[in-house]
Amino acid sequence: RQGAALAGRLLDWYDRHARALPWRAPPGVRPDPYHVWLSEVMLQQTTVATVGRYFARFLERWPTVAALAAAERDAVLAEWAGLGYYARARNLHACAQAVVRDHRGRFPDTEAGLKALPGIGDYTAAAIAAIAFDRPATILDGNVERVIARLHRVDAPLPGAKRALKELAARITPQDRPGDYAQAIMDLGATVCTPTRPQCLLCPWRPECAAHAAGDMARYPVKAPK
Ligand code: ADE
Repeated sequence: RQGAALAGRLLDWYDRHARALPWRAPPGVRPDPYHVWLSEVMLQQTTVATVGRYFARFLERWPTVAALAAAERDAVLAEWAGLGYYARARNLHACAQAVVRDHRGRFPDTEAGLKALPGIGDYTAAAIAAIAFDRPATILDGNVERVIARLHRVDAPLPGAKRALKELAARITPQDRPGDYAQAIMDLGATVCTPTRPQCLLCPWRPECAAHAAGDMARYPVKAPK
C-alpha cells in the first residue's frame, strides 16, 4: 500500500529530524498524558516558541492534573495571562477537575472519551489519543491540511475540503507508532512543507507529491474566498 510506504518514510525522517520540544518524549517513548493535553491546549492558537515557557511554568506549579484541578481558578487564569483566549484557561481548569472527578485522575484513552471533556475538540482529542496513548487517530491541523492538500493536489477549497482531507490523511495513518507519526506530520508541515518556500529537496514524500511534480505547491491548500 502507498500509505504504508509513506508512513514508513515519514517515521524514518522523524527519527533523524524530530524537533526537541519541551513536551515531547524521545521517539518510541510514551509521554505523560497530562503533559500532552496541557501542551496541545496551549498550542491551539499560540506558537511553539511562546508555549515552551508557559508549559514549563505550569508544570512547575502544578505537576499533576490533580494539582491543577485543586488550584484556584483565578490562579490558573493569572498564570495563563499572555496566552490569550481566556475561555481556553477556564476550560483547562474545568477539564482537570472533570478528569479527577469523573476519571479518577486519569485521562480517557480514546478519542470519544477525550472529546467529552471541556475544551477538547476533534483536533485535540485525536492529538492526545495518538501522542499519549499511541492510538491510530488522524490529526488534522493547519499543517496536516497543507501537507495532504499538496500531496494529492486537492483542489476543493477549505474549509469545505476538511472532510476529504481527513479521509486522505487517515489512509496514511499507520497502526505502527501512530503517536510518533502524528508528531512527524506536524513537524513536516512546520519545518519542510511550509506555507511559503517549502523545502521540497528535504522532503521524504517528494517522490509521491503531486504538487511538487506539477511545481504548484503554493496553490495548496486552496481556500474559499472570504
Ligand atoms: N503543534 C500542535 N501540537 C504540536 C506538537 N505536538 N508538536 C509540534 N507542534 C505542535
